[in-house]
Amino acid sequence: MSIHSDKVAKKVTLTTISKMKGVEPITMVTAYDALFAKLFNGNVDMILIGDSLNMSFLGKEDTLSATMDQMIYHTQAVCNGASLPLIVLDMPFGSYTNEVDAVKNATRAYQETNAQAVKIEGGKERAYIVKALTNNSIAVLGHIGLMPQFLRSDGGYNIRGKDKTDIASLVEDARALESAGAFAIVVEGVKSDAARAITEAVNIPTIGIGAGLDTDGQVLVWSDMFGFFESFKPKFVKQYCQGAKIIRENLEEYTSEVKNRNFPSEEYTY
Ligand code: KIV
Repeated sequence: MSIHSDKVAKKVTLTTISKMKGVEPITMVTAYDALFAKLFNGNVDMILIGDSLNMSFLGKEDTLSATMDQMIYHTQAVCNGASLPLIVLDMPFGSYTNEVDAVKNATRAYQETNAQAVKIEGGKERAYIVKALTNNSIAVLGHIGLMPQFLRSDGGYNIRGKDKTDIASLVEDARALESAGAFAIVVEGVKSDAARAITEAVNIPTIGIGAGLDTDGQVLVWSDMFGFFESFKPKFVKQYCQGAKIIRENLEEYTSEVKNRNFPSEEYTY
Protein backbone atom coordinates (compact mmCIF):
# COMPACT_ATOMS: atom_id res chain seq x y z
CA MET A 1 0.00 0.00 0.00
CA SER A 2 1.41 3.40 -0.81
CA ILE A 3 2.44 5.32 2.24
CA HIS A 4 -0.02 8.21 1.77
CA SER A 5 -3.04 6.44 0.35
CA ASP A 6 -5.53 3.73 1.37
CA LYS A 7 -5.29 2.22 -2.11
CA VAL A 8 -2.58 -0.12 -3.37
CA ALA A 9 -1.59 1.28 -6.74
CA LYS A 10 0.90 -1.32 -7.95
CA LYS A 11 1.88 -4.94 -7.45
CA VAL A 12 3.04 -5.59 -3.89
CA THR A 13 6.32 -7.50 -3.76
CA LEU A 14 8.37 -9.07 -0.98
CA THR A 15 10.56 -5.96 -1.06
CA THR A 16 7.51 -3.72 -0.61
CA ILE A 17 6.52 -5.70 2.50
CA SER A 18 10.06 -5.68 3.96
CA LYS A 19 10.27 -1.91 3.54
CA MET A 20 6.99 -1.34 5.39
CA LYS A 21 8.38 -2.46 8.77
CA GLY A 22 8.38 0.51 11.13
CA VAL A 23 7.05 2.78 8.35
CA GLU A 24 3.45 1.82 7.65
CA PRO A 25 1.15 -0.92 9.00
CA ILE A 26 0.69 -3.90 6.65
CA THR A 27 -2.88 -5.04 5.88
CA MET A 28 -3.62 -8.68 5.13
CA VAL A 29 -6.92 -10.54 4.78
CA THR A 30 -7.72 -14.09 3.77
CA ALA A 31 -9.59 -14.91 0.56
CA TYR A 32 -10.62 -18.21 -0.96
CA ASP A 33 -12.21 -17.27 -4.29
CA ALA A 34 -11.94 -14.87 -7.22
CA LEU A 35 -15.06 -12.86 -6.33
CA PHE A 36 -13.80 -11.70 -2.93
CA ALA A 37 -10.20 -11.49 -4.14
CA LYS A 38 -11.41 -8.96 -6.73
CA LEU A 39 -13.08 -6.91 -3.99
CA PHE A 40 -9.85 -6.91 -1.98
CA ASN A 41 -7.60 -6.19 -4.99
CA GLY A 42 -5.98 -2.78 -4.57
CA ASN A 43 -7.37 -2.40 -1.04
CA VAL A 44 -5.00 -4.60 0.99
CA ASP A 45 -1.26 -5.28 0.87
CA MET A 46 -1.44 -9.06 1.16
CA ILE A 47 -3.95 -11.86 0.65
CA LEU A 48 -3.55 -15.18 2.44
CA ILE A 49 -5.28 -18.27 1.12
CA GLY A 50 -5.48 -19.65 4.65
CA ASP A 51 -6.13 -23.27 5.52
CA SER A 52 -8.95 -21.70 7.58
CA LEU A 53 -10.90 -22.28 4.36
CA ASN A 54 -11.28 -25.86 5.57
CA MET A 55 -13.55 -24.48 8.32
CA SER A 56 -15.26 -21.45 6.85
CA PHE A 57 -15.50 -22.64 3.23
CA LEU A 58 -15.71 -26.45 3.59
CA GLY A 59 -17.48 -26.52 6.96
CA LYS A 60 -15.01 -28.79 8.79
CA GLU A 61 -14.33 -28.58 12.55
CA ASP A 62 -10.67 -27.58 12.20
CA THR A 63 -7.95 -26.94 9.62
CA LEU A 64 -6.17 -30.30 9.91
CA SER A 65 -7.73 -32.12 6.97
CA ALA A 66 -7.00 -29.39 4.38
CA THR A 67 -5.02 -30.75 1.43
CA MET A 68 -2.49 -29.38 -1.07
CA ASP A 69 -5.06 -29.90 -3.86
CA GLN A 70 -7.57 -27.70 -2.00
CA MET A 71 -5.00 -24.97 -1.29
CA ILE A 72 -3.87 -24.92 -4.92
CA TYR A 73 -7.42 -24.80 -6.31
CA HIS A 74 -8.39 -21.86 -4.07
CA THR A 75 -5.10 -20.03 -4.68
CA GLN A 76 -5.67 -20.28 -8.43
CA ALA A 77 -9.12 -18.73 -7.91
CA VAL A 78 -7.72 -15.90 -5.77
CA CYS A 79 -4.93 -15.19 -8.27
CA ASN A 80 -7.57 -14.96 -11.01
CA GLY A 81 -9.33 -12.22 -9.00
CA ALA A 82 -6.44 -10.24 -7.48
CA SER A 83 -3.41 -8.99 -9.36
CA LEU A 84 -2.03 -6.42 -6.91
CA PRO A 85 -1.68 -7.81 -3.36
CA LEU A 86 1.15 -10.14 -2.40
CA ILE A 87 -0.41 -13.60 -2.48
CA VAL A 88 0.50 -16.24 0.11
CA LEU A 89 -0.57 -19.91 0.00
CA ASP A 90 -0.93 -21.55 3.42
CA MET A 91 0.78 -24.95 3.46
CA PRO A 92 -1.68 -27.48 4.93
CA PHE A 93 -1.03 -29.79 7.89
CA GLY A 94 1.23 -32.71 6.91
CA SER A 95 2.58 -31.08 3.75
CA TYR A 96 5.91 -29.94 5.27
CA THR A 97 6.82 -32.58 7.87
CA ASN A 98 10.30 -32.95 6.34
CA GLU A 99 12.50 -30.94 3.97
CA VAL A 100 11.85 -33.15 0.94
CA ASP A 101 8.04 -33.01 1.23
CA ALA A 102 8.13 -29.30 2.06
CA VAL A 103 10.19 -28.43 -1.01
CA LYS A 104 8.17 -30.78 -3.25
CA ASN A 105 4.80 -29.37 -2.11
CA ALA A 106 5.87 -25.72 -2.07
CA THR A 107 7.41 -26.13 -5.54
CA ARG A 108 4.03 -27.43 -6.69
CA ALA A 109 2.42 -24.32 -5.15
CA TYR A 110 4.77 -22.08 -7.16
CA GLN A 111 4.35 -24.07 -10.38
CA GLU A 112 0.56 -24.39 -10.30
CA THR A 113 -0.39 -20.96 -8.89
CA ASN A 114 0.88 -17.38 -8.96
CA ALA A 115 1.42 -17.31 -5.17
CA GLN A 116 4.54 -15.31 -4.27
CA ALA A 117 5.11 -17.09 -0.96
CA VAL A 118 3.97 -19.95 1.23
CA LYS A 119 3.14 -19.88 4.95
CA ILE A 120 4.13 -22.56 7.41
CA GLU A 121 3.35 -22.88 11.13
CA GLY A 122 6.11 -23.48 13.67
CA GLY A 123 8.98 -21.80 15.47
CA LYS A 124 12.59 -22.82 16.08
CA GLU A 125 11.75 -26.54 15.62
CA ARG A 126 10.64 -25.81 12.05
CA ALA A 127 13.40 -23.33 11.15
CA TYR A 128 15.23 -26.08 9.21
CA ILE A 129 12.14 -26.45 6.97
CA VAL A 130 12.05 -22.68 6.35
CA LYS A 131 15.76 -22.84 5.47
CA ALA A 132 15.17 -25.71 3.02
CA LEU A 133 12.42 -23.71 1.31
CA THR A 134 14.31 -20.40 1.14
CA ASN A 135 17.41 -22.28 -0.12
CA ASN A 136 15.19 -23.47 -2.97
CA SER A 137 13.99 -19.94 -3.88
CA ILE A 138 10.63 -20.24 -2.15
CA ALA A 139 9.62 -17.26 -0.01
CA VAL A 140 8.26 -18.13 3.42
CA LEU A 141 5.87 -16.36 5.77
CA GLY A 142 6.36 -17.87 9.25
CA HIS A 143 3.56 -18.36 11.79
CA ILE A 144 4.16 -18.54 15.55
CA GLY A 145 2.17 -18.21 18.79
CA LEU A 146 -1.20 -19.92 18.66
CA MET A 147 -0.91 -22.31 15.73
CA PRO A 148 -4.20 -23.88 14.62
CA GLN A 149 -2.40 -26.89 13.07
CA PHE A 150 -1.20 -27.79 16.62
CA LEU A 151 -4.80 -27.83 17.94
CA ARG A 152 -4.92 -31.54 18.71
CA SER A 153 -1.35 -31.95 19.98
CA ASP A 154 -1.70 -28.83 22.18
CA GLY A 155 -5.16 -29.85 23.41
CA GLY A 156 -6.88 -26.63 22.33
CA TYR A 157 -6.38 -23.07 21.09
CA ASN A 158 -4.10 -21.67 23.82
CA ILE A 159 -3.15 -17.98 24.11
CA ARG A 160 0.64 -17.63 24.30
CA GLY A 161 3.10 -15.21 25.88
CA LYS A 162 1.53 -15.09 29.32
CA ASP A 163 4.85 -15.20 31.23
CA LYS A 164 8.47 -14.19 30.76
CA THR A 165 9.62 -17.72 29.89
CA ASP A 166 7.05 -18.07 27.13
CA ILE A 167 7.78 -14.57 25.79
CA ALA A 168 11.49 -15.49 25.63
CA SER A 169 10.64 -18.72 23.83
CA LEU A 170 8.48 -16.85 21.26
CA VAL A 171 11.27 -14.32 20.68
CA GLU A 172 13.66 -17.25 20.05
CA ASP A 173 11.13 -18.70 17.58
CA ALA A 174 10.92 -15.42 15.68
CA ARG A 175 14.71 -15.02 15.56
CA ALA A 176 15.15 -18.59 14.32
CA LEU A 177 12.64 -17.99 11.50
CA GLU A 178 14.33 -14.71 10.56
CA SER A 179 17.74 -16.43 10.46
CA ALA A 180 16.26 -19.19 8.28
CA GLY A 181 15.16 -16.57 5.74
CA ALA A 182 11.43 -15.99 6.44
CA PHE A 183 10.39 -12.62 4.96
CA ALA A 184 7.73 -11.94 7.64
CA ILE A 185 6.00 -13.73 10.52
CA VAL A 186 2.33 -14.11 11.45
CA VAL A 187 2.01 -13.80 15.23
CA GLU A 188 -1.29 -15.30 16.35
CA GLY A 189 -3.07 -15.35 19.71
CA VAL A 190 -0.37 -13.84 21.93
CA LYS A 191 -0.53 -11.25 24.71
CA SER A 192 0.29 -7.80 23.37
CA ASP A 193 3.49 -7.52 25.49
CA ALA A 194 4.78 -10.67 23.84
CA ALA A 195 3.86 -9.41 20.35
CA ARG A 196 5.71 -6.16 21.04
CA ALA A 197 8.81 -8.04 22.27
CA ILE A 198 8.78 -10.26 19.15
CA THR A 199 8.31 -7.29 16.83
CA GLU A 200 11.20 -5.40 18.42
CA ALA A 201 13.46 -8.49 18.34
CA VAL A 202 13.42 -9.04 14.56
CA ASN A 203 14.11 -6.96 11.46
CA ILE A 204 11.37 -8.62 9.41
CA PRO A 205 7.71 -7.54 9.67
CA THR A 206 5.34 -9.22 12.11
CA ILE A 207 1.68 -9.54 11.16
CA GLY A 208 -0.62 -9.95 14.13
CA ILE A 209 -3.93 -11.70 14.59
CA GLY A 210 -5.19 -11.51 18.15
CA ALA A 211 -1.84 -9.99 19.10
CA GLY A 212 -2.69 -6.34 19.85
CA LEU A 213 -1.64 -3.10 18.20
CA ASP A 214 2.15 -3.31 18.26
CA THR A 215 2.85 -5.71 15.41
CA ASP A 216 3.92 -4.38 11.97
CA GLY A 217 0.61 -5.38 10.41
CA GLN A 218 -2.71 -7.13 10.96
CA VAL A 219 -4.47 -10.09 9.36
CA LEU A 220 -8.09 -11.20 9.71
CA VAL A 221 -10.07 -14.05 8.17
CA TRP A 222 -12.56 -12.48 5.74
CA SER A 223 -15.56 -14.53 6.89
CA ASP A 224 -14.89 -13.52 10.52
CA MET A 225 -14.37 -9.82 9.85
CA PHE A 226 -17.48 -9.47 7.71
CA GLY A 227 -19.72 -11.48 10.04
CA PHE A 228 -20.33 -14.54 7.87
CA PHE A 229 -18.74 -17.16 10.15
CA GLU A 230 -21.22 -17.66 12.98
CA SER A 231 -19.96 -20.84 14.72
CA PHE A 232 -17.91 -18.77 17.17
CA LYS A 233 -16.40 -15.27 17.44
CA PRO A 234 -13.01 -14.99 19.15
CA LYS A 235 -12.42 -11.81 21.23
CA PHE A 236 -9.92 -10.39 18.70
CA VAL A 237 -12.37 -10.45 15.78
CA LYS A 238 -13.99 -7.13 14.92
CA GLN A 239 -17.02 -7.69 12.69
CA TYR A 240 -16.96 -4.79 10.23
CA CYS A 241 -20.40 -5.79 9.00
CA GLN A 242 -23.06 -8.39 9.77
CA GLY A 243 -22.70 -10.37 6.54
CA ALA A 244 -24.80 -13.37 7.58
CA LYS A 245 -27.62 -11.13 8.84
CA ILE A 246 -27.62 -9.07 5.63
CA ILE A 247 -27.78 -12.20 3.45
CA ARG A 248 -30.52 -13.78 5.57
CA GLU A 249 -32.71 -10.65 5.43
CA ASN A 250 -32.28 -10.30 1.67
CA LEU A 251 -32.91 -13.98 1.09
CA GLU A 252 -36.16 -13.66 3.07
CA GLU A 253 -37.19 -10.81 0.77
CA TYR A 254 -36.44 -12.93 -2.32
CA THR A 255 -38.29 -15.94 -0.94
CA SER A 256 -41.32 -13.87 -0.05
CA GLU A 257 -41.37 -12.19 -3.49
CA VAL A 258 -41.16 -15.55 -5.28
CA LYS A 259 -43.83 -17.12 -3.08
CA ASN A 260 -46.11 -14.11 -3.65
CA ARG A 261 -45.37 -14.01 -7.40
CA ASN A 262 -43.88 -10.50 -7.13
CA PHE A 263 -40.59 -11.59 -8.64
CA PRO A 264 -39.79 -11.42 -11.51
CA SER A 265 -41.74 -8.21 -12.14
CA GLU A 266 -41.88 -6.45 -15.58
CA GLU A 267 -38.48 -4.90 -14.92
CA TYR A 268 -36.80 -8.32 -14.79
CA THR A 269 -38.75 -9.95 -17.62
CA TYR A 270 -37.83 -10.19 -21.34
O1 KIV B 1 -5.53 -20.09 7.93
C1 KIV B 1 -5.59 -18.87 8.18
O2 KIV B 1 -6.52 -18.16 7.79
C2 KIV B 1 -4.49 -18.30 8.96
C3 KIV B 1 -4.67 -16.92 9.49
C4 KIV B 1 -5.50 -16.99 10.71
C5 KIV B 1 -3.38 -16.23 9.75
O3 KIV B 1 -3.51 -18.95 9.19
